[in-house]
Amino acid sequence: MASHAIPLHVCLFFFFVSHLSCTLGASENYIIQMDVSAMPKAFSAHQNWYMSTLALATSKITTTATTTGMAINPSSYIIYSYTHALNGFSASLSPSELEALKNSSGYVSAIRDLPVKPDTTYSTNFLGLNSNSGVWPLSYYGEDVIIGVVDSGIWPESQSFNDKGMSEIPLRWKGKCAGGHQFNSSLCNKKLVGARFFSKGLVANDPNARATMSNSTRDRLGHGTHTSSTAAGNYVDDASYFGYARGTAKGVAPRARVASYKAIWEEGAYTSDIIAAIDQAIIDGVDVLSLSLGLDGVRLYEDPVAIATFAAIQKGIFVSTSAGNAGPFYWTLHNGVPWVLTVGASNMDRDFGGVVTLGNGVSVNGRTLYPLNSSFNQTPMVFMGACDRLNELQKIGNKIVVCEETKIVALHVQTDNVEKANVAAGVFITNTTALGMYLQSPSPTMFLNSTNGEIIKTYIRINSNPKANLKFQNTYLGSKQAPVASTFSSRGPSPSCPYVLKPDLMAPGDFILAAWSPTSPVTRVGKQKLYTNFTVMSGTSMSCPHATGVAALLKKVHPEWSPAAIKSAMMTTSNNIDDLHRPIKDIGRANMEATPLAMGAGQINPNKAMDPGLIYDAKPQDYVNLLCALNYTTQQIQTITKSSSNNCSSPSLDLNYPSFIAFFNANDSNPDAITTQEFQRTVTNVGEEHSTYIARLTPIRGIRASVTPNTLVFTKKNENQSFKLRLEGPRLLKEDVVFGYLSWVHTAGKRIVRSPIVVSRLTF
Ligand SMILES: *[C@@H]1O[C@H](CO)[C@@H](O)[C@H](O)[C@H]1NC(C)=O
Ligand SMILES: *[C@@H]1O[C@H](CO)[C@@H](O)[C@H](O)[C@H]1NC(C)=O
Ligand SMILES: *[C@@H]1O[C@H](CO)[C@@H](O)[C@H](O)[C@H]1NC(C)=O
Ligand SMILES: *[C@@H]1O[C@H](CO)[C@@H](O)[C@H](O)[C@H]1NC(C)=O
Ligand SMILES: *[C@@H]1O[C@H](CO)[C@@H](O)[C@H](O)[C@H]1NC(C)=O
Ligand SMILES: *[C@@H]1O[C@H](CO)[C@@H](O)[C@H](O)[C@H]1NC(C)=O
Ligand SMILES: *[C@@H]1O[C@H](CO)[C@@H](O)[C@H](O)[C@H]1NC(C)=O
Ligand SMILES: *[C@@H]1O[C@H](CO)[C@@H](O)[C@H](O)[C@H]1NC(C)=O
Ligand SMILES: *[C@@H]1O[C@H](CO)[C@@H](O)[C@H](O)[C@H]1NC(C)=O
Ligand SMILES: *[C@@H]1O[C@H](CO)[C@@H](O)[C@H](O)[C@H]1NC(C)=O
Ligand SMILES: *[C@@H]1O[C@H](CO)[C@@H](O)[C@H](O)[C@H]1NC(C)=O
Repeated sequence: MASHAIPLHVCLFFFFVSHLSCTLGASENYIIQMDVSAMPKAFSAHQNWYMSTLALATSKITTTATTTGMAINPSSYIIYSYTHALNGFSASLSPSELEALKNSSGYVSAIRDLPVKPDTTYSTNFLGLNSNSGVWPLSYYGEDVIIGVVDSGIWPESQSFNDKGMSEIPLRWKGKCAGGHQFNSSLCNKKLVGARFFSKGLVANDPNARATMSNSTRDRLGHGTHTSSTAAGNYVDDASYFGYARGTAKGVAPRARVASYKAIWEEGAYTSDIIAAIDQAIIDGVDVLSLSLGLDGVRLYEDPVAIATFAAIQKGIFVSTSAGNAGPFYWTLHNGVPWVLTVGASNMDRDFGGVVTLGNGVSVNGRTLYPLNSSFNQTPMVFMGACDRLNELQKIGNKIVVCEETKIVALHVQTDNVEKANVAAGVFITNTTALGMYLQSPSPTMFLNSTNGEIIKTYIRINSNPKANLKFQNTYLGSKQAPVASTFSSRGPSPSCPYVLKPDLMAPGDFILAAWSPTSPVTRVGKQKLYTNFTVMSGTSMSCPHATGVAALLKKVHPEWSPAAIKSAMMTTSNNIDDLHRPIKDIGRANMEATPLAMGAGQINPNKAMDPGLIYDAKPQDYVNLLCALNYTTQQIQTITKSSSNNCSSPSLDLNYPSFIAFFNANDSNPDAITTQEFQRTVTNVGEEHSTYIARLTPIRGIRASVTPNTLVFTKKNENQSFKLRLEGPRLLKEDVVFGYLSWVHTAGKRIVRSPIVVSRLTF
């Protein structure tokens, strides 16, 4: 569930998704994997073979079940036939038909078609992107890189997708602009180069949805417009959310192109449509895929994101995904897939607020996102303590009510009461810093911290006729330590693959301003819904497209790098210190130091990622070695790799990854015994020919760590050097999570290639 500042109707949308999972009737929709090497030569196309297999399997059932013995036309059962993302098709099947299909030659696996949840602007400045130096000018702002966004579609008229300054579309692009309801195919341009929609899975799961669906790529929710413009929106001057966050809106890669693949609908979202969208994006030739969505509680071979993206990375397509919004608890992360980038969310040093000016001329700042300009001039003000008595509040009338949070009366009770009481405005004194959706209150509201609250309380106490002015629409920059890990951001370890540390990194995801669908209400004031071209949203859905944009910039600078190399460059150069030069904190853990299970390697740093010095690369076979070591069956591995001949001769859980995680959680007879774990890694020199790097380890509580060799000498570009990291500690760790860092420090002093190391006693 998205946590804060997600507008009401998107919450409704989540509600729909979770309720669509209860399916009707006996038949259910499945995604069927087939082994194409088992296809008889008589078939010219895979699709014909799938249809014939399905016909044969279902006719066995129908002949026994009906007197006429007439087989039902199987094409009516096939929802999609897939090409790259998966070898196979999706279909509606009864339990007996599924059993019969499992007997067919070439059958590999079947997974249920499950509902999926989706999980400015200033964020580019905050990430250090600027026009004078660094990755923006060197990558020509991501020129010509094509980003495929699988989401709720796009609002093509949004100024973020105008094609001012864009070059001609490259000939290699095979995508198209599909027309549809209120979507003329002439709406695409040199910025928005593709638009397609995928709804067959939704309709197969919920036939009633058909009547209300918009039947086009037009985004009626706003989510896809927001994520697409965050990754690659063009420059839009004077954008704001009702005066907040005012400035020139732009994507992270403002010269990259967008191809929109709509698979999330107001009526719900299904895996069969998501796979079809990824399949088409691969065929169309996108360079980077952005997936701000995910499924909880599935294993890798059941996870449509894991399955469909394996084909993408085999083709060199970089995939960025959201970690989920179920934090701050361990094991809540989704998309913990070793071959994709999993992005957590962080806060920036920006606040939205207003000013309370007291009758004595003293002003204090508060936080708010109230959208209207109010005219509260010298309005009487009254302190009502905990604001827990509605009947008293209802007698107050046109006054500003001041409430103070207590340990007993929660903030949401107070804001509810004040809204119901129909007073002039509410001022709330609270210690809560993660105010999230409170800020988008439907009535004039301001939130003050305890210092500022005391100033107001004292003023009211010593004045017989206290009054105040309220002013809204302020944006405060540099107001606090930043970045910090956001409370809602899902935390690792990855339930589907704990042996790879996730998330990989974090990027801004809190109160991000980006384009929106102007027909989708963002908030309300009283009963009146409000609409806007740009809105502020929070979630890992917002942090993911920031990383997508960075990947697009890196693809432009280093077209030869593999997806794993790009990921490595982003991770090993990320920041683990904040703007006060202290370790990054976690507001979900009472502002204690953030662990890599919250922030991965750290906050993404696009300029440094361009020049990492060393990379931890990986090839598809390395992932196969990992899948083999997970003890998956050949069919489960084949479901992911689509190959019937997977080489499991060197299984290994020790993927060549730019981070490390070990579990010291053996709770057995001899607690004093020592356990060790060794990691073997290979780094590739992508810096100067002659380079030397020296290992530096930070202490890890309760653990002895060592690296051999601790000096790596390179004499050539693209040369590989290997090393071992050894961790030694108790069989059962004394703390849930301890961590440190291994840095390879360039002796010429230019670069630090840093990897997080986590040791945990968490169990799975
Ligand atoms: C599948 O095949 C097995 C053995 O070949 C047979 O016993 C079983 O009845 C078949 N199941 C269906 C549903 O056809
Ligand atoms: C909103 O965007 C539309 C184009 O989609 C534009 O015509 C309109 O002027 C914009 N509104 C504001 C308030 O900027
Ligand atoms: C689509 O746009 C083109 C060019 O602007 C126009 O000629 C055509 O009539 C439009 N089609 C529809 C169905 O509106
Ligand atoms: C979408 O298309 C279906 C038929 O495919 C139609 O029944 C439905 O009315 C359409 N919806 C809209 C909003 O046009
Ligand atoms: C409020 O006032 C500011 C400037 O003072 C203006 O930019 C903004 O559009 C106004 N907002 C509304 C909702 O009228
Ligand atoms: C808020 O913080 C202040 C100062 O630390 C403290 O006095 C007060 O009791 C806190 N309020 C609540 C509700 O925790
Ligand atoms: C409250 O905010 C003010 C700035 O408006 C700041 O100076 C003060 O330190 C804050 N107090 C607390 C308890 O955070
Ligand atoms: C896989 O099976 C082997 C042999 O039974 C076992 O030692 C190993 O721990 C298993 N691996 C995983 C990841 O469960
Ligand atoms: C499997 O991989 C190993 C190296 O890991 C290689 O020696 C062997 O030839 C491969 N087998 C096949 C059938 O490709
Ligand atoms: C270890 O096992 C004991 C007894 O089975 C149990 O009480 C304790 O909670 C376990 N400790 C951990 C950290 O799992
Ligand atoms: C270095 O390792 C990478 C990744 O394993 C591999 O692709 C590359 O061929 C190796 N380079 C050399 C020069 O051996």
